[in-house]
Amino acid sequence: MAHKLWEKNFEVNKEIERFTVGRDRELDLYLAKYDVLGSMAHITMLESIGLLEKSELDQLLAELKQIYAIADKGEFVIEDGVEDVHSQVELMLTQKLGEMGKKIHSGRSRNDQVLVDLKLFTRHELKEIVDSVKILFDELIQKSNQYKDVLMPGYTHLQVAMPSSFGLWFGAYAEGLADDMLFLQAAYRMTNRNPLGSAAGYGSSFPLNRTMTTQLLGFDSMDYNVVYAQMGRGKMERNVAFAMATVAGTLAKMAFDACMFNCQNFGFVKLPKECTTGSSIMPHKKNPDVFELIRAKSNKLQSLPQQVMLIMNNLPVGYFRDLQIIKEVFLPAFGELKDCLQMAAYIINKMEVNEHILDDPRYDLMFSVEEVNRLAANGMPFRDAYKTVGLEIEAGNFTPCKDIHHTHEGSIGNLCNDKIEELMNHTLSEFHFERMENAEKELLK
Ligand code: ARG
Repeated sequence: MAHKLWEKNFEVNKEIERFTVGRDRELDLYLAKYDVLGSMAHITMLESIGLLEKSELDQLLAELKQIYAIADKGEFVIEDGVEDVHSQVELMLTQKLGEMGKKIHSGRSRNDQVLVDLKLFTRHELKEIVDSVKILFDELIQKSNQYKDVLMPGYTHLQVAMPSSFGLWFGAYAEGLADDMLFLQAAYRMTNRNPLGSAAGYGSSFPLNRTMTTQLLGFDSMDYNVVYAQMGRGKMERNVAFAMATVAGTLAKMAFDACMFNCQNFGFVKLPKECTTGSSIMPHKKNPDVFELIRAKSNKLQSLPQQVMLIMNNLPVGYFRDLQIIKEVFLPAFGELKDCLQMAAYIINKMEVNEHILDDPRYDLMFSVEEVNRLAANGMPFRDAYKTVGLEIEAGNFTPCKDIHHTHEGSIGNLCNDKIEELMNHTLSEFHFERMENAEKELLK
């Protein structure tokens, strides 16, 4: 027996049903807790405008809390024949409370249920991404400070170029994450607006109190225009995906560097052997698979905005079933990115650094510019100094002075890590996650 919220007096073709339900019964599990929270706020508001009795509200809220607890334990299931999370929650309510369970849908539509579910889910996941980014950031800053004096060659065109340092290398990725955090914040702020009350996308003739549900759910504001609220489906996912992609881009680049620097031909960094993987044929192998997988997964995550965009790009105003397909790529992406971030922090923490890279004379030439600058600082015109050193190198009698003194901001000798931390902390201070957390706690009390 099929349970459908829109069931009338005819049966839907089984093949059509299979195809249209698609993967909702699996993917909607991500949304279960949030579907319950959305309904709790909605019915609290319905009671306040006289569409539910107080006693009905109390019973419904108590039952919804039970369902939330089930979902929180990971035990929520969408039963056979039930098409989505919204139908399952309503079914559970009517099984327990009878007719009353059906009243929660006044002034709603699954379109705004799934919208609000996605927003609540996404803001929660964004917070976890932010937390994971911060942990990796701290790890990178710590390593940057720890190895601030350890020099390594810097490359352009993969040719030995100029002196760099592990302080700079680790710190560069930390600063990268501080910038990525701005995208996460924009994504969070756009996500944290209430679409509830848009119903099917055009509002409701019930006098819904949207300010009230906005406050109950701890949203910063509502998506005011109900047509725009519905238009946000797909747009929110795309923009959040862009924010995730910029983080993933930072990770992928760092992972490639780490793989390269770990190669014997470089030998700049090393992973403890318990953090490497072996080969089934070559007994000596200690492979940096962790970084390779972080790289591949992060590269895959960078396709997420394009995937979302291609699904929703040419839709005109109003709801379309196309939007359902976005869930397939969007919902699992958070877990994937979190996993990569957590693994990156873990492995960076374990990474060992070669403090004697420069003993190898193949890197001597990276000091050529230092020598040119030294001559120029002593009064020789830069072009002449450049030529003098160039001729010395050609003649094979260039001897580097490896003692360098960079003092300007952001250089080897003055990393400005404290400033980078300030950038990060400033952005973090503007998230105000406590608004979401307190509201959810209050609803579930
Ligand atoms: N599973 C649907 C989705 O994700 C829920 C909304 C269904 N609405 C509709 N009008 N068919 O989009």
